[in-house]
Amino acid sequence: MDIKFIQFQNHGDDRGSLVALEDHKNIPFTIKRVYYLFNTQAQVRRGFHAHKQLKQLAVVLKGSCRFLLDDGKEKIDILLDNPAQGLFIESFVWREMYDFSEDCVLLVLADSFYDELDYIRDYDKFLEEVK
Ligand code: TYD
Repeated sequence: MDIKFIQFQNHGDDRGSLVALEDHKNIPFTIKRVYYLFNTQAQVRRGFHAHKQLKQLAVVLKGSCRFLLDDGKEKIDILLDNPAQGLFIESFVWREMYDFSEDCVLLVLADSFYDELDYIRDYDKFLEEVK
């Protein structure tokens, strides 16, 4: 599986760091939705779904967490701990997020509005779809 990381330019200086995210400049889609996870529990694993259409970019703004990405052929475990780096998640990729640090803030940019019909929440169905 091809894992795409996007490295953001840090416009920071001696006052601190600054990263800007812009449609079709450093983000490879039009941003329709932004959501973020915080107060996550270290022992809780979440996600457990794939999307039919949706493309997303995940950025850990603070702390760290791990992603399991699975395209039906290969599973890859990824540590996200750098706010200057985005993890691009294609459609038809099963994802699970876990090992959240206590201070983790996980930002997700998405190319569509929330749509439950776009979710595949059953792993066996996902495997059937990607076969
Ligand atoms: P859920 O899909 O369980 O989160 P995760 O994939 O991170 O485990 O989403 C939790 C709840 O939030 C669920 O009721 C759907 C809702 N939700 C929205 O209303 N809008 C959104 O953009 C997202 C991602 C979730």
